[in-house]
Formats: sequence, C-alpha cells, structure tokens
Amino acid sequence: MKALDLFDKLNTNLGPLGKHSELSEGYFTFPKLEGEIAPRMKFKGKEVLTWSLNNYLGLANHPDIRKADAEAAAKWGAAYPMGARMMSGQTDLHEQLERELAEFVGKESAYLLNYGYQGIMSVIDSLLDRKDVVVYDSECHACIIDALRMHLGKRYVFPHNDIDNCEKQLERATKLAQEQGGGILVITEGVFGMTGDQGKLAEIVKLKEKFDFRLLVDDAHGFGTMGQTGAGTAEEQGVQEEVDLYFSTFAKSMASIGAFIAGDAKVIHYLKYNMRSQIFAKSLPMLLVEGALKRLDMLRTQPELKDNLWKIVNALKNGLIEKGFSIGKSNSPVTPVVLNGTVGEAATMSKDLRENYNIFCSVVIYPVVPKGMIILRLIPTAVHTLEDVAETIAAFEAVKEKLTSGYYKTTELAISFGE
Ligand SMILES: Cc1ncc(COP(=O)(O)O)c(C=O)c1O
Repeated sequence: MKALDLFDKLNTNLGPLGKHSELSEGYFTFPKLEGEIAPRMKFKGKEVLTWSLNNYLGLANHPDIRKADAEAAAKWGAAYPMGARMMSGQTDLHEQLERELAEFVGKESAYLLNYGYQGIMSVIDSLLDRKDVVVYDSECHACIIDALRMHLGKRYVFPHNDIDNCEKQLERATKLAQEQGGGILVITEGVFGMTGDQGKLAEIVKLKEKFDFRLLVDDAHGFGTMGQTGAGTAEEQGVQEEVDLYFSTFAKSMASIGAFIAGDAKVIHYLKYNMRSQIFAKSLPMLLVEGALKRLDMLRTQPELKDNLWKIVNALKNGLIEKGFSIGKSNSPVTPVVLNGTVGEAATMSKDLRENYNIFCSVVIYPVVPKGMIILRLIPTAVHTLEDVAETIAAFEAVKEKLTSGYYKTTELAISFGE
C-alpha cells in the first residue's frame, strides 16, 4: 500500500494565513520596510509614517546604541562565545547582564534566553511534569500556547482577564493537583500585545490567599514601558514580589534580540540546568549581550525615554477617543483601533491608508480576532512626534468614514479577499 505524498495537502491547504498569500505577499504579509528604524520609513519606494517599529523607547537607532553595537561587533564579531552556556559559551558579561536585569526587576536572580519564544517554552517545559496543572489566560501569546502543547499534564484556560473564571479554574486545578500530587502554575501576560490591556496581575496575586500556585508573567510589552522605573507591569500594579517568575524579551523596549527570566535564585539555578533550548543551543552572542547592557543602562538612567513614549501614547489615545474611536480596553502603550468590517474591507482600507495617506500600521483580522472585527494596531514610540499623531488621527477619521459608508465593500481587492 502506498502512503499519500505528505506534501500533497499543501496544494489545497496553505493554512489560515497562507490561503491569502497570493493576494497578500509582499504587501500585507512580508512587507519590506526600508531605511533606518524610524517613524518615517520607505515602503515600496514611498515614505510612510510607520507604527510597527518594535522600538518603544526609540533605542533602535539612538546614536549611543548604534555606537555601542558597532563597537561590540568590531570587538567580538558575531560568533563569540563558542557554544552553549553550559559547555563553552559562558562569559563574565553574560553573568553581569543577568545580575543587572535581576536587580532592575527586583528579583534574586536572572538567566538569559536566546529568543523569547523558545526561551519561555523551555522555562515552562522544564518546570512542569505530568502531575502539575496549568491555569492560563486564553489570550496568552503563541509561545505560551506552544509550551503548553508540550505539557503532558492537565491545563485549564480562563477567558481573557476573567478573574472569577480564573478562580473556578484554580478550584479545579487544586483538586486535580491534590489527587495527583502535583503543583499549579498560573500563566498570564503583563500587557497583552494585540489588545493593549494589562493582565490583572494584582487580582491574580490576591488569589494566592486562597490557592497555592506559582505565577509566571510574560511582560514582553510591559518591560521598559510600565511601572515607575520601567521595571514592568508588576511594578505598575505593585505586585513585583508576588510574581514568582518574570519574563521579558529584548525584542520590544530593548530593540534587540534575546530575553530573560527572573525569579528566586534556587528556581533560576534549576532552570539553568534544565532548559533544553539553552542547554542545547549556542549562547547569546557577545554583540547582543554588550548591546543589552548598554540598553539596560539607558533604560534605567534616562527616564525621559519612557516619558517621551507616554507623551505620544497619551496624545494618540486621547486624540482617538476625542474623535469617537474605540481603543478597546487598552491601558498600555499598545493602541488598538477597533472597527467593524470584513477581511476584504480591512485589506482595502489598509491599502488606502498606505497608498493615499502614507500611514503604515498592522491590520489584525480574522482568525486572530473574531469575524467582522478589524483592529488597526498602533505601537507608539518615544521617537514619534505629536505631528505624527495628528496626521494619523486625521487619516483614520477619513478611512473610518469610508469604511462605514460601505466605500471599501465593492473594490476588486475586497471581493477577492472576501469575508
Ligand atoms: C508576549 C510575547 N511573548 C514572547 C514573544 C517572543 O519573543 P521573541 O521575539 O524574543 O522570540 C513576543 C514577541 O516578540 C511577545 O509579544
């Protein structure tokens, strides 16, 4: 008997995002933004005002950072140190960065991770065995969902930020953990990257009075942007101590690559010896470690970076609300502009924004959000200006009016994309 060719299905099923690839590639998916990382970049040869920079504090192109990165590259090249931390990739600077990160987020110890995505998967994977039970927020990032796919035990999900339901799941989890002789890990995020609302960390921490669990927070969007010192969302909500494991990537406020996990020394020591993605992969290159030390130093000593960010965030949010836009429940820099329409209308509106108003932002559509919802996602940074904000709001008013009048419904693009 002959098996099917594994690749046959690729002819008919390219997946939920891939199915639009013929129409979208190079424009809506895999667009190329060229030039220095800044609010004004080139898209298809034309200058656009960009709101997708992954650069909250404006560090990506800060002259001091560019200088530090260039010097580190000249000094170390891209390869050093050689292998995995445990084998031949350990250096004083890796350890120094870990000490400084731990101190900054108020934890005993920290450990570097090569990428946030695979790093947090390994954190979760190495902490859990089949007797342990996980309780997590339904909107957790894909890296957390993938980590839980590896978990051999039970997991209970609570609807996004629904603390009453979280408590119910904790009751179920406690019962099961008691029966099985396991523990409980609760996982949520500091700031949810699509909707911009903060995880209800303080309310989850309060549940520790009733239940025994450990709390892991992915604060990718909160590190450097939230809290008085920029130490993140748990600092903002006054519960830094009660968060057992604090995670952030360097991909947002630090405008780089890498990540870290911080917590009690004994837990971090355990992770260091058990996280497969770090034991079996090359250490973070020196170029990134030195770069991260410089970025952390600026983040700590130049509060004006965060103040500038929030000046833009507040102007953008207040301006949008004043003009009658919904920004959902955002209480962080992530600013979603929530509209209604089909996938086709979203594509046409986004093209109109790029072609005729010179505004480039991400468009979030079904299946990431429910059918009929469109989110234009704006990520303000410290290097945007108040003029950028005004220009964007004016453009949004114009396209919203076209959307509600049905103008985008009948374009060829809208019809090709469909619902
Ligand atoms: C919430 C969240 N967690 C984890 C990650 C993954 O981090 P990295 O890009 O360092 O792999 C991201 C995206 O960068 C994220 O938004």
